[in-house]
Amino acid sequence: MIKTHYKPRFGVLLFIVFAAISVASYPFISHVAADSSVAVGSGYTLTAYNPVIANNSVTGKATLSGTAQTSEQMQVCMWYAYNEGWAQVNSSCKSVTLTATTTSVTTYPVTVSPGTEYKIWAWGSQSGNSNSTTSGVTTAPLSLGSGASVGSGYTLTANTPVVIGNAVIGTVSLSGTAQTSEQVQACLWYLRSGTWQQISSSCNTLTQTATTTTITTKPVTFTAGTQYRISATGSQSGISNSATGYTLTAKSGSSSGNSSVPVGSGYTLTAYPPVMAGSSTIGMATLSGTARTSEQVQACLWYQASGTWQQISSSCNTLTQTATTTTITTKPVATIPGTQYEISASGSRSGISNSTSSGSMSATVLSATPYMGFNTYYALGGNINEASIKQLASQMQQNGLEQSGYNIIWLDWGWSTGARDAQGNLTTDTTQWPSGISGLTSYLHSLGFKAGIYTDAGASGCSNSGVGSLNHYQQDANTFAAWGVDAVKVDFCGAGQAGLIPQVQNTQFASAIANNSSNRPMILNICVPWLPGQVGEPESQSSYSTYLWAHNIAQSWRTGPDINYGGHTPETWFYVMRNLHDNATHPEVAGPGHWSDPDYMDFYGLTDSQSRGQLTMWSMLSAPLVISTDVTQLTSSQLADLKNPAVLAVDQDSLGSQGTMAFTQGTGGEVWFKHLSGNRLAVALLNTGTSPVDFQVTPAQMGLSGSYTLNDVWNNTTATTSSPITATVDPTSATLYIVQQ
Ligand code: GLA
Repeated sequence: MIKTHYKPRFGVLLFIVFAAISVASYPFISHVAADSSVAVGSGYTLTAYNPVIANNSVTGKATLSGTAQTSEQMQVCMWYAYNEGWAQVNSSCKSVTLTATTTSVTTYPVTVSPGTEYKIWAWGSQSGNSNSTTSGVTTAPLSLGSGASVGSGYTLTANTPVVIGNAVIGTVSLSGTAQTSEQVQACLWYLRSGTWQQISSSCNTLTQTATTTTITTKPVTFTAGTQYRISATGSQSGISNSATGYTLTAKSGSSSGNSSVPVGSGYTLTAYPPVMAGSSTIGMATLSGTARTSEQVQACLWYQASGTWQQISSSCNTLTQTATTTTITTKPVATIPGTQYEISASGSRSGISNSTSSGSMSATVLSATPYMGFNTYYALGGNINEASIKQLASQMQQNGLEQSGYNIIWLDWGWSTGARDAQGNLTTDTTQWPSGISGLTSYLHSLGFKAGIYTDAGASGCSNSGVGSLNHYQQDANTFAAWGVDAVKVDFCGAGQAGLIPQVQNTQFASAIANNSSNRPMILNICVPWLPGQVGEPESQSSYSTYLWAHNIAQSWRTGPDINYGGHTPETWFYVMRNLHDNATHPEVAGPGHWSDPDYMDFYGLTDSQSRGQLTMWSMLSAPLVISTDVTQLTSSQLADLKNPAVLAVDQDSLGSQGTMAFTQGTGGEVWFKHLSGNRLAVALLNTGTSPVDFQVTPAQMGLSGSYTLNDVWNNTTATTSSPITATVDPTSATLYIVQQ
């Protein structure tokens, strides 16, 4: 069936084309400011190049070029931003005297401080003439190397520190499959007078042979308002690397759920409710008093299974110490989303002992399964207002999409011009939003929806249009939370055009969202849509590299360009396949609470079977399922497919594993596997080619032997068989099965 699309789409398309043209012709975009050159006497030029960061060091160089080749002198030093001004790093300075056409001097390397700005100062003289200049500024990323790879197949992750009671601790993990001996060290750092300093008493090291080695730092008493982060080093088979987690600003925490009992006279044993750090759960207990005789403390994590509390014995830790306060953390355990955890602690001193257990913590992981909803971008473009969103909400209730789980209504570009009041707060157009955004979110919440919003990490969105949050990250995160927003998309369209660095900006934005003044949980979707070189950035700052750092700080991150980007009219199968294969490159970083995002389901221009193919493959990817099309124009087949509970269950499976292509068959045939909970496997047969493909997948290829249950998801049939799956699949479509031994 041919579907007609209505006018707002053309606004979107014109905008996209305009964005593409203006990006392509933007002459000054570069991710670093220009190098700086000055003349030295006649015929000689001194150039200071912007500092370069590599392997946690920053270096810079300058050259003096000319033709006279008489003795020339140069000095080059690194400077860093300090207390609103600039300070020289004396140890970086290098001086030379040379006779050459070009004299090039590189500073001695300086260890990078995350988030710090660096520039080069250079001085040169030749035949009695001298001059000096400074380069442009390079800003060091905040989370250098977080998620760093250690040799092949091992990933070191430094998580954000967490607060328990009045202590701050951090966790680090080194994961892979080789299971040879690996070493991990984790230390807490804090920010003092603009410089990060290690808290050496917090450092812990561990040597272990395991799929994942997780280590906590020793707990440190925190000062409210101070920024803390974790740095880690890991090595495996002689290869090592380091990673730095992102920053926590310690707030004076509430101590609800703590439980304290006396241990003899003058000593108090306290068990604190567990907290989640990265993908682990940890807990803490303290024994405090003044007598300072030898005391013993043990702390264990417990979890609730079928209504009964059970000890996790691998988590237990014991400590014997003579100190005013003995603080002990449990060993970290992998968090199972939705589970209740508590701490039990026992303490003894001078032969007197007691025990207690903390209040419980429910492991609520934001977006434990891929979130689902609707985004306005391809459906309504910039043409959104209170009436159109209310109408959409009503349509999604009438056609059952909300009831099937598509419950976030997400405003994209066009909800705001980016105008701010005198205090820098975002203002809303009262004609467009008569009830304000908070009125809209209240309305959506009353219908059972959640509300999403859009901004850009730059000063504005694509090509200087619409809202951007640069220099207002915390203020805007606070505003969104106060408005009752549940999900924030941070675009990098305008930010990329302005030459900003995705990891640096998004790390700051993620921190702002995590620290929002309402303590409101908000999903963060990071959207870096640029291909390598598209706006002058290297591959390391493109859409293809976002996975390296975003899984630590966001619930989802875009893995490729806009599915409808590039001047073509409808979404086509070609772009669906492009975004599928871009997304498929790094399945290892997806999991509960952090998903790779191949962009939206528009379906406009796709046949029914192509739409089904996209939904099938998005479910195999564990992709966020976000519809972005005029929902009144969906065909009955598309609508029924979007609501099919069996395919949605594949996407929403609690294991949260991202499917991968296992092997190819025929011309353009791809066999995909995705592990599901309950020892089940989803199998998709995708035909990317132009003629039918005869697939045959044997039980052995699926890891099965003997008879197994074969559920054909789209045909809703189940059979017991020991034969291969055989199917002839038409071009540009996919079939889907679930198998279980
Ligand atoms: C970028 C993003 C899109 C959309 C537009 C809005 O292109 O990738 O998803 O948000 O900006 O202009």
